Amino acid sequence: MDIKSELLFKIKNKTATVGVVGLGYVGLPLSVEKAKSGYKTIGFDVQKQKVDMVNQGVNYIGDVVDSDLSEMVKKGVLSATSDFAFIRDVDCVAICVPTPLDEYQQPDISYVRSSSEKIAEYLHKGMLVVLESTTYPGTTEELVKPILEKISGLKCGQDFYLAFSPERVDPGNLIYKTKNTPKVVGGVGIDSTEIAAALYRNVLESEIFEVSCPAVAEMEKILENTYRNINIGLANEMAIICNKMNINVWEVIEAAKTKPYGFQAFYPGPGIGGHCIPLDPFYLTWKAREYDYHTRLIETSGEINNFMPQYVIERASKILNRFKKPLNGSKILILGVAYKQDIDDYRESPALKVIENFEKEGSLVSYIDPYIPELKHKGKEYKAAALNAENLGKADLVVITTMHSCFDYAFIQENSKYIFDTKNAMKNIRSRNNIELL
Ligand SMILES: NC(=O)c1ccc[n+]([C@@H]2O[C@H](COP(=O)([O-])OP(=O)(O)OC[C@H]3O[C@@H](n4cnc5c(N)ncnc54)[C@H](O)[C@@H]3O)[C@@H](O)[C@H]2O)c1
Repeated sequence: MDIKSELLFKIKNKTATVGVVGLGYVGLPLSVEKAKSGYKTIGFDVQKQKVDMVNQGVNYIGDVVDSDLSEMVKKGVLSATSDFAFIRDVDCVAICVPTPLDEYQQPDISYVRSSSEKIAEYLHKGMLVVLESTTYPGTTEELVKPILEKISGLKCGQDFYLAFSPERVDPGNLIYKTKNTPKVVGGVGIDSTEIAAALYRNVLESEIFEVSCPAVAEMEKILENTYRNINIGLANEMAIICNKMNINVWEVIEAAKTKPYGFQAFYPGPGIGGHCIPLDPFYLTWKAREYDYHTRLIETSGEINNFMPQYVIERASKILNRFKKPLNGSKILILGVAYKQDIDDYRESPALKVIENFEKEGSLVSYIDPYIPELKHKGKEYKAAALNAENLGKADLVVITTMHSCFDYAFIQENSKYIFDTKNAMKNIRSRNNIELL
């Protein structure tokens, strides 16, 4: 049997061993799904603590069901390691490492590079490598492929297979999980696409959509996230104009939403957060410069979205001014620091910038977030306060920055002096004498 048929055979009869590099928000759910579908799965991570937790069957990611993880570990189908020599034992490996921006807002591709180098050391004939990290178009063929070929001495498409398949996980989404979200796959050559698609078809319950090359798959992921970034930017701009014109932007959006075609609702807020929407479009901005093109829409929506935390301070200052209070010395209570509702992730959360900006003005800031008992930001450490009448009542202004569904909004309204609601979280509260909306 040739190497392609052999790999396809192992994938189809589930005798292939699969690996996942990076056991975070993306990699751990994917590892569990692979194990649940019957593949012996090995997770790789540089963080020993995560490796130990997986091997003890202890879950640390909200979207993973605790018992799924522990059962797979107990059955011996799922394990984790920091030792990349185990790549020798795997037939297929997915790379799910971070792709942040550096301090100059440029792609920090160092995690993709270093994990590719480590895989390359142990890459063997008949193996499939799939990059899942969100990145600029061209990464798979221009960066990953040369690293794998140079270090291993093997040839892509002939000795091993390589594809890009973007991860679409939406933390906290109760309907769409790794298992049932359609997956796009673009390989280097048709064999790579066929093999990668065959693996996902055996693991997931969703449609697997094949595209002609990795760059199409890389670009479509950037398009998805840029679409969101720009539409949120538009909603934020509408919020600023509506406030000036004394129009309720939330009501405007609800009304626009009644159109059954051609409109999708996006909502304003204190800014955008997380590991994807604020960052990914700028991977394209960076790459586009190579082609002497400036991504003007991305830059403009980035400008509006980045202005929002400061806009929150300006509006808060006007509210406090009505009570003859300056920002300096006022007690501000932030409700919700996670970057979106009902999750425990505060990476790039706009609430951090809101806290920072209030503190720059001399405000005394505390926060409440049941999902985030403590947080670190720019060298400062904060501990969450309890949600009780005393803490609410002490604050000169309560600012809602994340709409967690576990918050008792009626209790918050009853016990707060004044609330600035940047998420329309209090929409079902009748008594509105102490609430101002973004
Ligand atoms: N979190 C999301 O909602 C989401 C959604 C879609 C796509 N993505 C994309 O998926 C990728 C991963 O994101 P994430 O949120 O899972 O990140 P994460 O930080 O939660 O997890 C990444 C993991 O990779 C590990 N790691 C880093 N370098 C490594 C190396 N060289 N070898 C082995 N392990 C290494 C880290 O220790 C960490 O555990 C990013 O490109 C992100 O943009 C994320």
